[in-house]
Amino acid sequence: MSSGTFITFEGPDGAGKTTIIKLIAQELNNVLLTREPGGIEIAEQIRRVILDKGNTAMDSRTEALLYAAARRQHLIEKVKPALDKGRVVLCDRFVDSSLAYQGYARGLGMDEVFTINQFAIEDFMPELTIYFDIEPEVGLKRINKNKGREINRLDLEDLDFHKKVREGYHLLMERFPHRIVRIDASGTVDEVFQKTMQLVEAKLAEKKPSI
Ligand code: TMP
Repeated sequence: MSSGTFITFEGPDGAGKTTIIKLIAQELNNVLLTREPGGIEIAEQIRRVILDKGNTAMDSRTEALLYAAARRQHLIEKVKPALDKGRVVLCDRFVDSSLAYQGYARGLGMDEVFTINQFAIEDFMPELTIYFDIEPEVGLKRINKNKGREINRLDLEDLDFHKKVREGYHLLMERFPHRIVRIDASGTVDEVFQKTMQLVEAKLAEKKPSI
């Protein structure tokens, strides 16, 4: 077992998680902040293919496999080595995104998508997953307001798709109640940050050896 701590952050588009994770990373020592799909060159290349607005012909299974491929490379090249060095790894999205987006919203089936991901992650799972919950209507409005943010192929999906993504996450919370903790992401940045920080600190404190 590695000595580091692996924490993932999940949520529908526009939940604000990327902003909050950056603030959390500033407060911690020995931390690695990374994201999926991407985080290293090979996975960033795969990200460009998946999210390219021109790739409208992409089949849902192809999409699921590409996310799993990017995940594998990122895990092996970046996440595991950092955990082995005892670092705290904060990852913006991980396997739950594939289960909610491809498994549930795209209708491929959560179990089927988990199976292909098991090949990629070999049972390697986060110790804590913080789920930022937001109504899809509010999330999509936030995306449209955030002019600096890239608009990707998945953002172009309709409201029903984004509603399903949220339903998918709610099913995942029922399935993994000990790992996934929900945060109401409709509050101010400071409110959401404070709640997130408390959860992260509690997890890190659990792992500190008692003297
Ligand atoms: P991002 O906007 O959080 O960087 O994520 C890019 C998009 O990819 C976002 O719409 C969520 C989606 N996604 C999936 O559909 N499946 C996955 O496995 C991952 C990691 C992301």
